[in-house]
Amino acid sequence: MSGKRVTVPEILAAKGNRKLAVMTAYDYASARIADEAGMDVLLVGDSLAMVVLGHDDTLSVTMDEMLHHTKAVARGTNHALVVGDMPFLSYQVSVSEAVRNAGRFLKEGRAQAVKIEGGRETAPQIRAMVDAGIPVMGHVGLRPQQVARLGGFKVQSKTAAEAAHLLEDARIVVEAGCFAVVLEAIPARVAQVVTRELPVPTIGIGAGRDCDGQVLVYHDVLGLFDRFTPRFVKNFAQLGTASREALARYAAEVREGRFPGPEHEFSIDDDEFKRFAG
Ligand code: KIV
Repeated sequence: MSGKRVTVPEILAAKGNRKLAVMTAYDYASARIADEAGMDVLLVGDSLAMVVLGHDDTLSVTMDEMLHHTKAVARGTNHALVVGDMPFLSYQVSVSEAVRNAGRFLKEGRAQAVKIEGGRETAPQIRAMVDAGIPVMGHVGLRPQQVARLGGFKVQSKTAAEAAHLLEDARIVVEAGCFAVVLEAIPARVAQVVTRELPVPTIGIGAGRDCDGQVLVYHDVLGLFDRFTPRFVKNFAQLGTASREALARYAAEVREGRFPGPEHEFSIDDDEFKRFAG
């Protein structure tokens, strides 16, 4: 996929007109593949902490790590809108720190937008970022950066009161300026109402089919991460298995002297070789 990059106004205009395909990416190679496959948005998710860096949750990933990967994704992308995910404690402490860190995603990472988790409590940060010219994607429902408080990655908004609170949070982050909102791990019927009520696209992950778009983690889509598989994940390929088989074949061919073959070797002129080796 080449040509013009997807813009924030185009994402807004998709509401009610077409579904948005969103995926995470963490490096140049995965970004190129996802971009060429036609994704509308590539999110450099803080899930990087788990699927790339091997942490048990998303809390430990740093601004510098996120920026390092965002730069690589931006270099591998020329169609999708690139969104940098702000890591734990990069935006909660103060509004000015939030704007400065968000700005680094655009200035250094070359992303076109940032995402932050949170509801009404993040409205001042969202407003300040948008005022500074930084497009913001919201994220409500299950917020993995709250894992310590929640005691695990659990489905949210299962009571009427919690669903109403979530809807109000979503409304507030949109009023503060978000151009899209991720809905994570909430009942499909709750997501349907939130999607109907918001004027901007909802991007679901474990939030059912009625969201305006869907996002999945790259490694989950391709079957590359098997430490745990939430109910909402669908593996569209089994590249983990295929990779293990390919690597085992490579190791066997090396050990058996079958790789490299003559077709992989470079030649040298006979006279030059005689002068060298006698
Ligand atoms: O970090 C992440 O990957 C995410 C989503 C999948 C929405 O926040």
